[in-house]
Amino acid sequence: MAETEAHISSEEDQLFRLLRQLDIAPDAPQRATAEAVGLSLGRLNALLRDAIDQGLVRIAQRPGSDKRQRNSYALTTKGAGEKNRLTDLFLAQKLADYEALHAELTGTKIGLVPLKSRTEPMQNNLAPIPELYVSYDSAQKLKVEAADLTSHDLTPRQICDLELLMNGGFNPLKGFLSEEDYNGVVENMRLADGQLWPMPITLDVSEDFAESIEIGQDIALRDQEGVILATMTVTDRWEPNKSREAEKVFGADDDAHPAVNYLHNQAGKIYLGGPITGIQQPVHYDFRGRRDTPNELRAYFRKLGWRKVVAFQTRNPLHRAHQELTFRAAREAQANLLIHPVVGMTKPGDVDHFTRVRCYEAVLDKYPAATTTMSLLNLAMRMAGPREAVWHGLIRKNHGCTHFIVGRDHAGPGKNSAGEDFYGPYDAQDLFREHQDEIGIEMVDFKHMVYVQERAQYEPNDEIKDKDDVTILNISGTELRRRLAEGLEIPEWFSFPEVVKELRKTKPPRSKQGFTVFFTGFSGSGKSTIANALMVKLMEMGGRPVTLLDGDIVRKNLSSELGFSKEHRDLNIKRIGYVASEITKNGGIAICAPIAPYATTRRHVREEIEQFGAFVEVHVATSIEECERRDRKGLYKLAREGKIKEFTGISDPYDVPVDPELSVETENVEVDNCAHQVLLKLESMGLIKA
Ligand code: PPS
Repeated sequence: MAETEAHISSEEDQLFRLLRQLDIAPDAPQRATAEAVGLSLGRLNALLRDAIDQGLVRIAQRPGSDKRQRNSYALTTKGAGEKNRLTDLFLAQKLADYEALHAELTGTKIGLVPLKSRTEPMQNNLAPIPELYVSYDSAQKLKVEAADLTSHDLTPRQICDLELLMNGGFNPLKGFLSEEDYNGVVENMRLADGQLWPMPITLDVSEDFAESIEIGQDIALRDQEGVILATMTVTDRWEPNKSREAEKVFGADDDAHPAVNYLHNQAGKIYLGGPITGIQQPVHYDFRGRRDTPNELRAYFRKLGWRKVVAFQTRNPLHRAHQELTFRAAREAQANLLIHPVVGMTKPGDVDHFTRVRCYEAVLDKYPAATTTMSLLNLAMRMAGPREAVWHGLIRKNHGCTHFIVGRDHAGPGKNSAGEDFYGPYDAQDLFREHQDEIGIEMVDFKHMVYVQERAQYEPNDEIKDKDDVTILNISGTELRRRLAEGLEIPEWFSFPEVVKELRKTKPPRSKQGFTVFFTGFSGSGKSTIANALMVKLMEMGGRPVTLLDGDIVRKNLSSELGFSKEHRDLNIKRIGYVASEITKNGGIAICAPIAPYATTRRHVREEIEQFGAFVEVHVATSIEECERRDRKGLYKLAREGKIKEFTGISDPYDVPVDPELSVETENVEVDNCAHQVLLKLESMGLIKA
């Protein structure tokens, strides 16, 4: 904040004291409030009237005979926002005064280092940081009033974002980004006031919802069960340039990047921005004792006297190499260790957080007693590599940590659509180093640890001097997945038996997992016939239940009200995907055979299913000419005559699969042979045993 902006007038000072007092004691008699704020009753009344006129304070009559106590006051969302603004202003003013005094006493102009660029660890990591919650009493009132507001049902990602906004994990943000802040963040990683912030935290909504909102209006933000978590005063509404956001924030406008895919194919078209008033935390039923807000962690460090804390961010199970590197990092920094895994949203296909947390708990015992703790972070990752590392650093700073481990390819999204890495392996470390002072947390670079067989221990690869004389062992993530999938041995030097046991429970060998075969192709291409043959063959083999979700059957039973517009087709395919993902999750085989003409929808279904098992896309590649020649249902004739509209291949598009697991030709090939090709594919993927 610039010095000139830091000046707080006496009116603002009085208003700040009043808002703070009403938030603490909304039902107090006026005389007590006046005393607490240090004003005469007359002045208090005038101030209250002004605040009510400005929409900062709401007044409610309380039933009862005592005239002096019949009023109760509550801050409105606007009032809570104003209180937060004035708090910041007040602190800035104090800092400026203190700096001026320092300069006067020491005769030096340099004065104090501004809070945000302090580099010395532990200057301020144990003091509480601001949250966006109102007091318990105000929250109860606000909750009742918010029931009448227009509501937005938050998506799972928005719930994660909101939780960290409200509990201070995203400090200094005070709400979902305004347009000006968003532009600054996208273009140069800075909020409009110049503070470092690398990730757009935006409230994306549909066009219809955005149109129903007026600027200045308060809206209620609800979780997926309808519980009101917060209110937001909408100050901004705009249509973002998503391609620009993708290029600048994620490095490329390429749908192979999970966050870019989310941006284009899942996020709403319009962004709303504005300050948040927090009512309650999102509810979590799992691992409650392991979830901490930034202030809870700060209090914990304070209590234990942990003056330096190094945080380890992870979205994967911990193996021996991780344990060794985190332990070394803590030793190097002479700090305690916080294992801080992300349990919000990670990369599609990751091991689910329930399994991971059980694995982490098993590893926690392997650290020297009282040196290490673990806390779960409900963050929705974006896999944005370098920018994500800076963001993770700020979040850990907010959680009271002084050091942060940044590894090779931190938060990497994998390969782009040309098969190359999105970011260089050390881009994240470079960007972090550049901004380290401002982030206010020290980076500990990740050492690539390998196992030296002769010495039976892990060592940093770049510190091994006798590489030619020793045997260096390493198992990559891909190799680990292969071994788990095929039920092969995982050596003890690589992981802890307890961890392997947990992983095997969740990921049995592929031949025992559920999976989905997803046929796609034109109407009349032969999908249903091959799917039926495949189903019978799989049932003959036995072992797992098989369900056929054929296009026609689904339209009769699940989607009878739907037509063939893009919207309806997408809904139809998403329903099929949902049912198939449930079957896959529960160890069965789902065979789907809709046209599924759109690539993005097929990808959506793939991602949903791959969380639980394999997704085998089979393109039944019969040409449109052949399908039309066969015209088994007589529909092509009607489509040509214009009697059926939006007919796939005639008057509606079909995106040919670019990279299906299998493509089958049906012209001059027996159905039995086609089904056999699919069986061979399943066998080569380890999904069935010969
Ligand atoms: S989609 O696009 O995936 O939702 O289609 P799907 O559910 O597989 O339904 C396709 C069957 O509906 C018949 N039908 C049409 N298909 C394409 N376009 C239009 N307009 C249309 N109208 C009716 C058609 O017989 C499809 O059957 P299949 O089993 O594919 O031959």
